[in-house]
Amino acid sequence: MHQDCERVLITEESLREQVRRAALAVGERYAASNPVVVGILKGSIIFYSDFIRHLEIPVTLDFMAVSSYGGGSVSSGKLRMKKDIETDVKGRDVVIVEDIIDSGFTLANLKALFLERGARSVYIVTLLNKRGRREYDIEPDYNCFDIENEFVVGYGLDYNEKYRNLPYVGVLKREVYEKN
Ligand code: IMP
Ligand code: MG
Repeated sequence: MHQDCERVLITEESLREQVRRAALAVGERYAASNPVVVGILKGSIIFYSDFIRHLEIPVTLDFMAVSSYGGGSVSSGKLRMKKDIETDVKGRDVVIVEDIIDSGFTLANLKALFLERGARSVYIVTLLNKRGRREYDIEPDYNCFDIENEFVVGYGLDYNEKYRNLPYVGVLKREVYEKN
């Protein structure tokens, strides 16, 4: 385990199993509609690539980069669009793939945006859900793991752009983010 982690919260094996289940559920639901699967960069990249490899249906892949964080561990409450998708979502089913839902700010905004653009439906898949932290009226349609209010890294999630490449989800030691 990485020295900056306090403990492994979700092992590679549990990640693999839950991500496979998520893909099965989404694959059944959208078997016939060729959904636009939108990965939210950068946090969802590892989840996204594992997820789509288990989807046995035709899909259109696309990516969006947004950020609500200045770089630390506290949300700034402002969504910045850094990269938009290239696909026209009008009349399409959109599946948003996100690493974690915390306050709900990011996903509430993105769902509204896709609906505004004329998407037929918007389905939200998250790897992690910090249920106790919600401030916006939004819930994932599919969530792989409920977690407590702890700052986690790995499997795509970062702290100041570090730790994304850890193959597991770990709880970051408090001293690592409190000293900044
Ligand atoms: P929300 O907009 O408050 O729901 O926050 C969602 C975003 O916050 C995610 O896409 C992450 O980038 C970030 N985030 C929230 N909690 C954590 C965490 O524990 N570790 C790493 N990133 C987090
Ligand atoms: Mg993110």
